[in-house]
Amino acid sequence: MKNKLIITLYILMLLPLLNAVAQAEGINNIDPVIEQKIDSIISLMTVKEKVGQMTQYNGSFDVTGAPSDIDSKTKLEKLKNGEVGSMLNVLTAKATREAQEVVMQNSRLKIPLIFGYDVIHGYKTMFPVPLGESASWDLEALKLSAQIAAEETAASGVHWTFAPMIDVSRDARWGRIMEGAGEDPYLNSVIGVARIKGFQGEDLKAINTIAACAKHFAGYGFAEAGRDYNTVNVGESELQNAILLPFKAASEAGVATFMNSFNEIDGVPATASTHLQRDILKRDWDYKGFMVSDWGSIAELIPHGFAKDKMQAGKLAVVAGSDMDMEGRVYEMALEPLVADNQIDEKLLNDAVRRILRVKFALGLFENPYKYSDEKREKEVLLSKENLEASRDIARKSIVLLKNEKGMLPLKKSLKSIAVIGPLADDKDAPLGNWRAQAIKNSAVSVLEGIKNAVGKNTQINYAQGASLGMGERSFLMPLTINETDTSGFTEALEAAKKSEVVVLVVGEDAFQSGEGRSQTTIKLRGVQQELIDAVAEVNSNIVLVLMNGRPLDISKPNEQVSAILETWFLGSEAGNAIADVLFGAYNPSGKLPVSFPRNVGQEPLYYNQKNTGRPSSDMVTYSGYQDSSREALFPFGFGLSYSTFEYGNVSLDAKDFSGEGMLNVSVAITNTANVAGKETVQLYIRDLVASRTRPVKELRDFKQILLEAGETKTVTFTINSKTLEFYSANAKWEVEPGDFEIMIGTNSVDLQTVKITYE
Ligand code: NOJ
Repeated sequence: MKNKLIITLYILMLLPLLNAVAQAEGINNIDPVIEQKIDSIISLMTVKEKVGQMTQYNGSFDVTGAPSDIDSKTKLEKLKNGEVGSMLNVLTAKATREAQEVVMQNSRLKIPLIFGYDVIHGYKTMFPVPLGESASWDLEALKLSAQIAAEETAASGVHWTFAPMIDVSRDARWGRIMEGAGEDPYLNSVIGVARIKGFQGEDLKAINTIAACAKHFAGYGFAEAGRDYNTVNVGESELQNAILLPFKAASEAGVATFMNSFNEIDGVPATASTHLQRDILKRDWDYKGFMVSDWGSIAELIPHGFAKDKMQAGKLAVVAGSDMDMEGRVYEMALEPLVADNQIDEKLLNDAVRRILRVKFALGLFENPYKYSDEKREKEVLLSKENLEASRDIARKSIVLLKNEKGMLPLKKSLKSIAVIGPLADDKDAPLGNWRAQAIKNSAVSVLEGIKNAVGKNTQINYAQGASLGMGERSFLMPLTINETDTSGFTEALEAAKKSEVVVLVVGEDAFQSGEGRSQTTIKLRGVQQELIDAVAEVNSNIVLVLMNGRPLDISKPNEQVSAILETWFLGSEAGNAIADVLFGAYNPSGKLPVSFPRNVGQEPLYYNQKNTGRPSSDMVTYSGYQDSSREALFPFGFGLSYSTFEYGNVSLDAKDFSGEGMLNVSVAITNTANVAGKETVQLYIRDLVASRTRPVKELRDFKQILLEAGETKTVTFTINSKTLEFYSANAKWEVEPGDFEIMIGTNSVDLQTVKITYE
């Protein structure tokens, strides 16, 4: 009897643990059998071989960082000796097979390589750039696009993408704002998880799934002045509540890997941050996958002024928990002597290798190191008709209608004439955006082509480029030259505009204006584009402005000049068709901005979820605002129009308070008052009125998308529980502090109804 009692108590004690194990997802789901295999591999490894697993080399196919100086002969020798564990930028089934063969046929322990690549918004079939895709707020569509990208990537022999980027980004000057889900921590979390699930699927072993990478850990999006790689200074509250929230969600979703970031944060480069990598990620979150450095970021500890040489840099990084050295060439020279010299414990290497091998096992590489390198499948999967159709669908869901006056849109197919004008109007390359992986140059459907595909023979299309934007050869690493002077095409453009009923004016950014290293101090339309708009607006007042860009732009002036504006980002392979779908009403626009669009660059960083400050009121000069500009966005976060009109009823609560693990429901009825079916994204924000750390004036905490037929009404209900209200408090933990909260519901972050509740 006594024994029975002890056993029952024992089981009860274990229960939470068992639950925790049962709940662990993806890479965090530890398989004891695999762990044993890893133990025995590690026990066979020399220190050199362990360091090898922690070393990643660039292949020679596509350089996305500073070119390396090591010659390919040395590289080959190192591969043969098992001194390389991973390569990036080795692509195609053939090339990955060949590189894998070198390792499998020559190295002592035959540990397969893992191949990584930046598959940021598609591999060959291009989807909208991540910021654009995020404007869909459609988690299923986002998951699907990652799934297709994974399928194409895996079919080319690559196992691992360096995506999703889940850096909360609030500064339009920062070129990499295009790579994430924008300014909101919650949106970055749910979109990040959707994309991780898309890449990794249910089973990493499947031949159509790949390992994902949550990057950049952490704070990269908070670079001062929007200058890439720049210093970040944030305190623990902002770090945990804003920056880390998406990473915590990614860790919980079992993302296979993390990548650290180039920036320093509060005086410590992230790559050498024990606080971030060991304490928060690996201890507090109990993360089981591995951390790859960013390209050369271990060696960059030297110019940061944090390490005096590579030996010290290697030591700092490995102690801090950076498991793999991407093209830094530091671990390969530093770790062996550091172990020999007792300066670091070999256990650190064992931990890193264990994490790396875990991912290799999860991918099934030990069973068959060549399983992804299948040339036949590669031919079938890439750029298939279905993939292009899916790309078109998510592209149109990503378009945001910012303005629609005089009933400009949708355009009637019966129009006699349409002028299609602008530097990007017939550009088949710009829509592919930056970070375009293996997209074929000039392969996107241009806006002109899309419009031609959509209209009948009776509509006259008058095309004129008007002016160019980016000039000459352009690529990831090349500086960009913008046409600042040549307006010789204006005359032709004006003629086209004069003789047409409507003008579709396509302006924005060159594809290589956004992306890594593409910070700007201006976010206005560059080159002669504003002059072109001025000139066209003089001769035709029916202008639909189509924007193509990777960052929020200052469109204050064009906003006053045109009747309709479509934000189309860089939409990928099917851009032109997707844009035409929206222009002519085949698709009713449903996108919502994942970032605030400012009135001018001086407002940056601008984000809706700001703090109230001690001086919020604008009744006096001495308030927290500007004397020469409003402090509000031109187009706020969450904003986006539709061809439908949605009327919100009164928000109602089923209780005014709750406590502990209780909950309450908040509901609102929404009616589509237009005569066309449409999709609305109903957004829920909270405000914690008084807390142990000041909280933002609004925080997105949930949203729901509903389809409403013409005239239809649907009621949307959100459940509020402690999870909805919690934050990282002054007690250094996630909790709800009792008190009053505002619950806000509406169509964007400004047009909201507010109700009050109390958490007791
Ligand atoms: C540097 C970038 O910061 C990172 O995002 C990317 O994955 C690596 N280069 C590899 O290309």
